[in-house]
Amino acid sequence: MINQKNMQLGKVRSVIRELFEYGKKRKEEVGEENVYDFSLGNPSVPAPKEVEEELKNLITETNPVILHGYTSAQGDFNVRKTVSNYINKRFNTALTPDCIYMTCGAAASLTITLNALLNDGDEVITFAPYFPEYKVFVEHAGGTLIPVQSEQNTFQIDFEKLNKALTPKTKAIIINSPNNPSGVVYEKESVKKLCKTLAEYSQKSGTEIYLISDEPYRELVFDKQTEVPYIMNYYKNSVVCYSYSKSLSLPGERIGYIAVNNEQENWQDIYAAICGAGRALGYVCAPNLFQQLVARVIDKTADISVYKQNRDLLVSALTEYGYEVVKPDGAFYLFVKALEPNADAFSERAKKLNLLLVSGNSFGVEGYVRISYCVSTDMIKRSLPAFLQLAQSYKN
Ligand SMILES: Cc1ncc(COP(=O)(O)O)c(C=O)c1O
Repeated sequence: MINQKNMQLGKVRSVIRELFEYGKKRKEEVGEENVYDFSLGNPSVPAPKEVEEELKNLITETNPVILHGYTSAQGDFNVRKTVSNYINKRFNTALTPDCIYMTCGAAASLTITLNALLNDGDEVITFAPYFPEYKVFVEHAGGTLIPVQSEQNTFQIDFEKLNKALTPKTKAIIINSPNNPSGVVYEKESVKKLCKTLAEYSQKSGTEIYLISDEPYRELVFDKQTEVPYIMNYYKNSVVCYSYSKSLSLPGERIGYIAVNNEQENWQDIYAAICGAGRALGYVCAPNLFQQLVARVIDKTADISVYKQNRDLLVSALTEYGYEVVKPDGAFYLFVKALEPNADAFSERAKKLNLLLVSGNSFGVEGYVRISYCVSTDMIKRSLPAFLQLAQSYKN
């Protein structure tokens, strides 16, 4: 008999994908311009121009046997050196190339890291709302995901709830800031308090707790004064899972990295476990062309001004129509309170107006929907009457 768990996983489509597929069909029926698809988190702005230029340069300048050949399993040494130097300069760390493991995006970074750290039965805490794949990744690594609800109305960390969730089985915490699906950025004080809480609990219980920072949205922050604290500056037992999918608008190219904090005593063992997990999962030698590319455009980001414009437009219109929203500081998602307790029913009612909003239930929080506003500003403008009609349908 084949593996039943994986078969089930393969058969059940995610709610997000389901809605996206529905949208494609609906567009054929009523016309593309009449469907307002806010389902997917696929960047809608092109990669920066330097990406195209450097790709051309790489192809014309580099020996193709080398450019398209294998690198070391953990990634090309010079690329890892560029990445570690960049992190050191930006965040005042002292990483070496041997702290960096190049991967196929944040998804691979997370699965490798979880497989490297977890033993069967370990618990991994995350804060709801959270990226639904965390559950799949944690369970595949033999652990159990423990979602802890965030503070209502702000979606910042609820420390009372966190304290209740910590147990001697807690092996890791995954944080994601800016957050998918709320767009919230954790304040510095909150991050400091989290690190202090974990350090104190680790000491009391005699267990190591690792902090995993899932960072595909780090560069997608709209105001200069919004700081996204770098976790290694506050907590020794930390690992950063980074991806260029959203920052460079390259989600299909599958490129990112894992950075292990070398301030923790056993960081070389953790790095070895990461290499081992990468090997066991077959995540070795991330695509070389894109390893070389990211090293050449290490400090570039796609033009995110459109996302800011979209956020402002949606937040002000939806607030005016009577929706409750938490204004996001980053990423490209808006988590909106449904106008009835049942978010699935609300999302279904929106669907009737060709408004495709993902029910928040799959993100571990009830009563909300997620809007992905990485879409054209024009589509948002066209969708506003439908949002208004939806709100009015609850008043009548
Ligand atoms: C919070 C979060 N983590 C991880 C990922 C996976 O990113 P990647 O495409 O780099 O694998 C996503 C993708 O949307 C995400 O939203």
